[in-house]
Amino acid sequence: MADGIIQTIIKSGQRAGKYYEPPPSTVPPETRRLFEEYVGIAPDQVIPYLAEFRDALWDVYPWPCVGQFKFVSLTLHQQPSYARVKDIVRAGGRYLDVGCAAGQDLRYLLLDSGASGANTFGLDKMGGYIDAAYRYFGDRDTLQTTFLVDDLFHAGPDSAVDALRGTVDVVHAGMFLHVWDLAGQHRACARLVELLAPRPGVLALGNSVARRTAGDHVSPEGTTMYKHDADSFRRMWDDVGRQTGTRWAVRTRNSDAVGLNGETAHWEDPTTTRLFWEVERL
Ligand SMILES: C[S@@+](CC[C@H](N)C(=O)[O-])C[C@H]1O[C@@H](n2cnc3c(N)ncnc32)[C@H](O)[C@@H]1O
Repeated sequence: MADGIIQTIIKSGQRAGKYYEPPPSTVPPETRRLFEEYVGIAPDQVIPYLAEFRDALWDVYPWPCVGQFKFVSLTLHQQPSYARVKDIVRAGGRYLDVGCAAGQDLRYLLLDSGASGANTFGLDKMGGYIDAAYRYFGDRDTLQTTFLVDDLFHAGPDSAVDALRGTVDVVHAGMFLHVWDLAGQHRACARLVELLAPRPGVLALGNSVARRTAGDHVSPEGTTMYKHDADSFRRMWDDVGRQTGTRWAVRTRNSDAVGLNGETAHWEDPTTTRLFWEVERL
């Protein structure tokens, strides 16, 4: 891994820097509901509690979206197919959140749908995020979701991810695909196709850091990320379909609202957008 800004922060154990922002003065209503109703935090304590939660996640690994409190910006409920996803999960369909980190969208889905969570899975390669989330959501003994600490690409007989192959009804990938360059995103999407059940109607959906015009971007770690626009995202799924012998309906919405409370300002690249996307197998 390149010795970029994040590596420097890790080495110095710093809780500072341009990605470590002060707590927000307000949070969206869904976030407030999650922490007041699901966790039981008093209304005036929600923001201090989120600040403490952010520090616990930051100490595991200082992703910019953690430092900037974007991890408390819930996104799944903003997807056009959200009502359908709730129905699928209530009916016992298999739901997988890849790159779930703190699992905030997953928990909001269970709170909002009333589903038991018995057939839901969260996958992240950083077990420290999953542990911190159990502590701050206070649900280690009650949450029925199965968390897999693994790499999405890990395959073979000892792979927990592989055990889900061909069985998943809905994959959610919130703020996930953009961590790779274009070739990496192709591979990740082909892996999602492999995990989904091989039948029409299965869904992958999520959102990615994007741009008004697609292109490469150097990440804070020094790696290359590809930021899509709607056309490049559609082309990628056309290619993934050709490679995997599958066909997908692709729906996207490119939004300028990149901040926690819908702010359009962005610290590093003013043309950054958030691409909400859904792909449904035909
Ligand atoms: C930017 S965070 C997004 C977290 C969350 N989904 C959200 O919307 O806030 C990306 C997450 O993907 C995880 N991740 C990155 N590459 C992965 C891989 N190959 N396998 C599993 N998890 C991975 C990271 O550990 C991180 O928690």
